[in-house]
Amino acid sequence: MGTGINKLICGNWKMHHDHLQAVSTLQALSLRLQAANLSKVEVVVHPPFVDLRSCQTVIEDRHIPVLLGAQNCHSEDSGAYTGEVSPAMLARLAVSYVIVGHSERRRLFHESDADIAAKVPAVLRYGMTPIVCVGEDEQERDAGRTMERLESQVSISLSKVKKVGIPSVVFAYEPLWAIGSGNPATTEDALVARDTIARAVARASRGVAVEKGSGTRVLYGGSVVPENAADFVKKGGMDGLLVGGASLSPESFAAIVEAVAAVS
Ligand code: PGA
Repeated sequence: MGTGINKLICGNWKMHHDHLQAVSTLQALSLRLQAANLSKVEVVVHPPFVDLRSCQTVIEDRHIPVLLGAQNCHSEDSGAYTGEVSPAMLARLAVSYVIVGHSERRRLFHESDADIAAKVPAVLRYGMTPIVCVGEDEQERDAGRTMERLESQVSISLSKVKKVGIPSVVFAYEPLWAIGSGNPATTEDALVARDTIARAVARASRGVAVEKGSGTRVLYGGSVVPENAADFVKKGGMDGLLVGGASLSPESFAAIVEAVAAVS
């Protein structure tokens, strides 16, 4: 954290945009991003799986300054897992980042801690970067258990990662009550979460990689809009943002990128 490396702005499109809409969104985004200062900001879009190949082609052909991300993957390279997509397949599509353990995956699709712990090293093995989502729900927050929850999610997600791989893992602090609610966390909440995640990463590194571990990138996600984006980076100490709803429109996503670039 606070490493001086590029800020990371990720757009999680969830189950929105078919492949044609995805391509036109990327083209519109590209026109708007050219004006923004991208030297200090890395921009990633996470479309649905069925859009990835079309997005890869348009990004390469038109030299669009955006990296490709996925929203999920399986932990195995291949096998009898109907409906699943492997990290090997994503790497072949030039995917750079994979969201792991989004709260919607945990809550709606019953992804367990063990599933998430298996996916993180699988993503790393293919040279991609996992973005592990962590965050407390409203009840846990009200009970004062936010830190405990974050510590346990971080430590479980790193439990199968070799120490040398730990600094490559990106975390996204996404309190469940803030996702899609129009009620974002405060920058104070973000600061506490960032420190808690950093401590848990250092502990998982068990001293050996503490210095490297301090380079861990932490993003904030949950009701990010152009108006609050810069504050999470400037005041909340975040290394970037994971944006849901506001990433669907090229106008608002580009405005978020510009706002963060201006304070980076
Ligand atoms: P939101 O979603 O920006 O629409 O709140 C964030 C997320 O779920 O990653």
